Amino acid sequence: MEFRFLISFLFFWFAHTCYGDVLFSSLPRTLMVTASPHQGQVLRAGEDRITVKWGLNESSLDATEAENLYKNVKVSLCYAPISQVDRGWRKTEDNLKTDKTCQFTITNSPYDASQTNRSFDWTVGKDVPTATFFVRAYAYNSVGEELAFGQTTDAKKKSNLFEIQGISGRHVSLEIASICFSAFSIVFLFGFFLVEKRKNKRPSNK
Ligand SMILES: *[C@@H]1O[C@H](CO)[C@@H](O)[C@H](O)[C@H]1NC(C)=O
Ligand SMILES: *[C@@H]1O[C@H](CO)[C@@H](O)[C@H](O)[C@H]1NC(C)=O
Repeated sequence: MEFRFLISFLFFWFAHTCYGDVLFSSLPRTLMVTASPHQGQVLRAGEDRITVKWGLNESSLDATEAENLYKNVKVSLCYAPISQVDRGWRKTEDNLKTDKTCQFTITNSPYDASQTNRSFDWTVGKDVPTATFFVRAYAYNSVGEELAFGQTTDAKKKSNLFEIQGISGRHVSLEIASICFSAFSIVFLFGFFLVEKRKNKRPSNK
């Protein structure tokens, strides 16, 4: 009895570790995704907005079937290959547990079969660094495993890429200017204070 329990436990453990890992290459592309930025457009983090639209491609999966399988859809901002070179922390891995391509969530919502075209407006997050991106959506089952995907670019991730200019790169010159200005004001105030002090001292020395 206990032995059988152990066997089934081991079986579940293996099943979990072997089948729990989802490979990107195994996923069908059943979602259609579009994003408002056009090829090569440059957006500013924390300021500019992106409108993403997604829905089921009914010629690749039946709508009722999708409704039974898909529980939620997450749309993310993903690094294009050109911004992954020499950056292990953005690396693409076929195993989605270790894949680091899509690090910025745009929206995560329950799968809604009644709306074929979902749409969402997103202000680019302030934490998004300067890089080239595309948008990808994953459909998940009830236990949070990826079942399908869709993306704004082609399979080789070459078309429809856009750029985001991170906050740190953009505000540096402004920050330097404000630091110089503060330093100048302190020196100025200090000088003013000294002059005033001297002026006040003179009469009392008489
Ligand atoms: C929808 O799926 C069909 C069949 O897989 C495919 O040929 C077509 O290009 C897809 N449409 C879009 C807009 O992705
Ligand atoms: C959904 O959006 C896509 C892309 O924007 C568009 O081609 C398609 O016609 C839309 N479908 C519906 C039902 O609105």
